[in-house]
Amino acid sequence: MEKKEAKKRIDELRKLINYHNHRYYVLDSPEISDAEYDELMKELQRLEEEYPQFLTPDSPTQRVGAAPVEAFGVVEHQIPMLSLGKAFSHEELLAWHKRVSGLLGEPEFDLVAEHKMDGLAVALIYQEGKYVTGATRGDGFRGEDITQNLKTIKSVPLSLPRGVPSRFEVRGEVFLSKKGFKKLNEDRAKAGQPLFANPRNAAAGSVRQLDPRITAQRPLDIYIYGVGLVEGGNTFTTHWETLEYLKSLGFKLNPQNELLKNLQQAEDYYQHWLEEIEHLPYEADGVVFKVNQYDLQERLGNVGGEPRWAIAYKFPATQATTVLEDIGISVGRTGTLNPFAILKPVNVGGVIVKRAALHNEDDIRRKDIRIGDTVIVQRAGEVIPEVVGPVVSLRTGKEKDFVMPTKCPVCGSEVIKPEGEAMSRCTNMSCPAQIFELVKHFASRGAMDIEGIGEKLAEALLKAGLIKDVGDIYTLEEEKLIGLERMGKKSADNVLKAIEESKKRPLSRVIFALGIRHVGSETAEILAKHFGSIDRLAQSTAEELMEVPTIGPTIAESIVAFFRQKPNQDVIKKLKEAKVTMREEAARPRELPLAGKEFVVTGKLDSCTRTEAEARIRELGGLVGSSVSKKTDFLVVGADPGSKLDRARELGTAQLDEKQFLDMLEGKK
Ligand code: IVH
Repeated sequence: MEKKEAKKRIDELRKLINYHNHRYYVLDSPEISDAEYDELMKELQRLEEEYPQFLTPDSPTQRVGAAPVEAFGVVEHQIPMLSLGKAFSHEELLAWHKRVSGLLGEPEFDLVAEHKMDGLAVALIYQEGKYVTGATRGDGFRGEDITQNLKTIKSVPLSLPRGVPSRFEVRGEVFLSKKGFKKLNEDRAKAGQPLFANPRNAAAGSVRQLDPRITAQRPLDIYIYGVGLVEGGNTFTTHWETLEYLKSLGFKLNPQNELLKNLQQAEDYYQHWLEEIEHLPYEADGVVFKVNQYDLQERLGNVGGEPRWAIAYKFPATQATTVLEDIGISVGRTGTLNPFAILKPVNVGGVIVKRAALHNEDDIRRKDIRIGDTVIVQRAGEVIPEVVGPVVSLRTGKEKDFVMPTKCPVCGSEVIKPEGEAMSRCTNMSCPAQIFELVKHFASRGAMDIEGIGEKLAEALLKAGLIKDVGDIYTLEEEKLIGLERMGKKSADNVLKAIEESKKRPLSRVIFALGIRHVGSETAEILAKHFGSIDRLAQSTAEELMEVPTIGPTIAESIVAFFRQKPNQDVIKKLKEAKVTMREEAARPRELPLAGKEFVVTGKLDSCTRTEAEARIRELGGLVGSSVSKKTDFLVVGADPGSKLDRARELGTAQLDEKQFLDMLEGKK
């Protein structure tokens, strides 16, 4: 190839690659396949190798590969990078608006709303349209030179279209998507490296790598949200206009940015995103409102490193740090030893958290959580708060490793950790902790449904020695109950009535209530249908059990082991003596009201849990599916339904709201 021709092709390829880069990384809408893109890249690499005289730093081949540095250089910010004032409540937002409004003498003014990205603020400087410098915010006046690292982020343009200001500084936030963060931590866990506590730390850690080749491997992205020093070019009159201009130059901007007319719209924007933010692929910790007009911004000015013309209205925090004072152990129904965090009480988004989940021993080890550590606690929605991980930099050296006890903390029996299982277990079947959990399970709504026997009464009954296992529930008498704390004659009678009622529950509920490991309500249903009585179930071998559809070796062995235990045989005997249903009533499924109808339940119901609803459907002869298909007759739709509703709409499946569903159960329809 002629030199001149080569130069021409190189220019052409760079333009093409930059164009497709922009489509892929900025606009999220590629026009060519990855393979085609790779072909273009390869061709360019080949030509640049052959004609090194044409190599330029802004070539798309030059994003990765710069050598590591000893330390970062310093970049002075010609215009300081400010931070934002914060509002934590509606009142604080109002106060801000009122102050601004007063200073300007205008009741309302345009605002630009943006998400407050949880990442790292950076500045990118372009000289004659070429990317020359990238820097962190640092202390706002001087940051670190991370030019090479930022270059590895594909959504950062390396050259800008003709006609841009000769010196052009843009500012934005580098961040990691939730997915990218998860993947990064998974890889680190596999490699035995400490985990990042949140996407923000991960982004900061990734950008501030002395070796840009490491940065290049991290799935970083950037949203540009403003400009810094601009020389020799157009001037703008509003922030919104600036954002539009930045977009036109190929920068990546958050698509959720909005131009608002007044305070009311600002509040709506906040409320909307407060609810929706969790569905976005990235973390944001609030929204930012900026006065749109630059002349107004100038009149407002800055105070103490914060512009008066902008405010960050934060979402309630979901994370906080506190001290892990100890690790407690609770023993579950199946004997699992569940470690939980005992924390120095801390306010996480308005809720005081003292306890948090730690999952299991392996998880504690993997995250390297030690007693005495300062830890990050996270709370999201309704779920139990959890310990995310330790703040390693705050260690004093006095922290202690957690050791799983070898004896059950409740009954003192030996603890085992079966091969391949994450949980340690107490080996004592009659461990009071296990029985307590079992009693609660036995009496719960999806099981024997004994109203009145909950957490408190279960504990009281066990403490008073009135029951030693679930079979003893049926030996309770009025006088004995009345002796208990806060138990009058009336409540005692109610409990006894509920116990009496429970004897009529169908066999499937009884099997479920026994709390056999791996036997949930659905399996119990199948077993009851197949074997027809407790005795036949108790006598069956693992082989016989495995002949039943959906029963595998784990469930089969667990059932056999259960009925082999003497204490369990005693319970069955007591239930029989009490005349609890022990055989499948000759149910004629065809005559049941919901016979032959298939239901799928989605979303949260007010009156019962999903499991309870499904149990009711089955009792009335209906079938319960886990996903909507052509066979589905009804989709029961609770609050916050998921994708099942979309599917039902696609298929035209009949939908029932909770009220309609309950009516149907009661035979009203
Ligand atoms: S504007 C004067 N816009 O918040 C304006 N900042 O507390 C200063 N941030 O260091 C920045 N999202 O890291 C702005 N849409 C957004 C932002 C944002 C996140 C961060 C940024 C900055 C900090 C200020």
